Amino acid sequence: MSLLIKNGTVLTHRGHFNANILLWNGKIAVFTKNEPKADEVIDASGKLVMPGVVDPHVHFRQPGMSSEDWASGSKAALAGGVTTVLDMPNTKPPTTTLSRLEEKKTLISTSTPNGPLVNYGLHFGVTVENLEEVFRAVGWGTPTILAASAKVFMGSSTGDLLVRDLEVIRQVVRGSRLVSVHAEDEEIILMHADKPDHSSRRPKLAAISAIKKLLSVAQQGRVYVLHVTSWDEAELASPFYREATPHHLFLNSSALKEIGNYAKVNPPLREESDRRSLWQALKNNMIEAIGSDHAPHLKEDKAKENAPSGMPGVETSLPLMINASLNGLIGLEKVVELMCYNPSRIFSIKDKGKMELGADADITIVDPNLEKKVTAEELHYKCGWTPYEGVRLRGWPIITIVGGKIAFREGEFFPVRGKEVSYAV
Ligand code: DOR
Ligand code: ZN
Repeated sequence: MSLLIKNGTVLTHRGHFNANILLWNGKIAVFTKNEPKADEVIDASGKLVMPGVVDPHVHFRQPGMSSEDWASGSKAALAGGVTTVLDMPNTKPPTTTLSRLEEKKTLISTSTPNGPLVNYGLHFGVTVENLEEVFRAVGWGTPTILAASAKVFMGSSTGDLLVRDLEVIRQVVRGSRLVSVHAEDEEIILMHADKPDHSSRRPKLAAISAIKKLLSVAQQGRVYVLHVTSWDEAELASPFYREATPHHLFLNSSALKEIGNYAKVNPPLREESDRRSLWQALKNNMIEAIGSDHAPHLKEDKAKENAPSGMPGVETSLPLMINASLNGLIGLEKVVELMCYNPSRIFSIKDKGKMELGADADITIVDPNLEKKVTAEELHYKCGWTPYEGVRLRGWPIITIVGGKIAFREGEFFPVRGKEVSYAV
């Protein structure tokens, strides 16, 4: 099976050029000015042809939770130009043993039999008791890496994974190839428990304090700090890889007044000045990756006074970033670096996130002139809502290709099966 994408502008993390691309056997086989014969041809005139987005931070909720699943999550990802996701371990039960890790992989690979499946990898949850299994999944000694990272929650959030003991964290960082950290300090959170609103119950100080604690283990290994929310955190976390989420880049704490608990998320949305400072950090190369932290909850749960934290985002992250780029905030190449190239590189994912000969043919075609409003009705989330309802964006993915096959094309899905990623040892 071969597929030719012709007349498009090829966008990489380093630049852009005009070329036709032949995809063959699931790989990028040729860049050419000619028109080689192919089983299928896509005319991408006026379109951007970029690597599929690698979203290193999603919560697809299976097993045990009902606000998303791999059928709906895969559709949302593919419609949003995302071809690979790394799923978090705070499911029910949590992914904290090797047998649960294998069970989750089986669950994913047998899910959505008639629909598309996005490529995937899994993060492994750390507890104070499971370090031996953590190291068998992501330790230096493992011959094959079984998970994308060891995930540590320093502050409590959805699920009950929490590691407060810095000595345990030191051991995890020392023994694992990569540790992803939710850096909010539980001690600071507890000290602010009686504050009136969500943002002040989990203040920026909680994030700063957690990162300061992490600095004491910086020499021990590789750490990826999830969802940094401001310049201050990004600056402090300079020895680590730093992730920003679209919601901390595009929303601020005033959203809590507008949409109430739908805007409740951990770490919380910050002041407008922090949001702006996060953009400054991103422009100054102090952020390495964008992860959606797609963390949907059902409307009925968000309607409760004590609502859970988290918001969906896997389908809107690329359109938000492309729109911002077309408005002059950052270069398109930077978007590819933050959303495709760097996540693959940081998590040692083989052959993804780049427009190169021999790379996996996971490709997203974006129409930079397509402008439309975000509506929950048109998105594919099982939860049925989005914090960006009504926001007008320009630059949407129109075709998403997984392993050389069209998985999504202008609203229609095809039953293309993504695979588990492999990691370079
Ligand atoms: O807001 C959040 N929601 N932050 C987290 O750390 C977890 C996530 C979830 O799983 O709901
Ligand atoms: Zn998360």
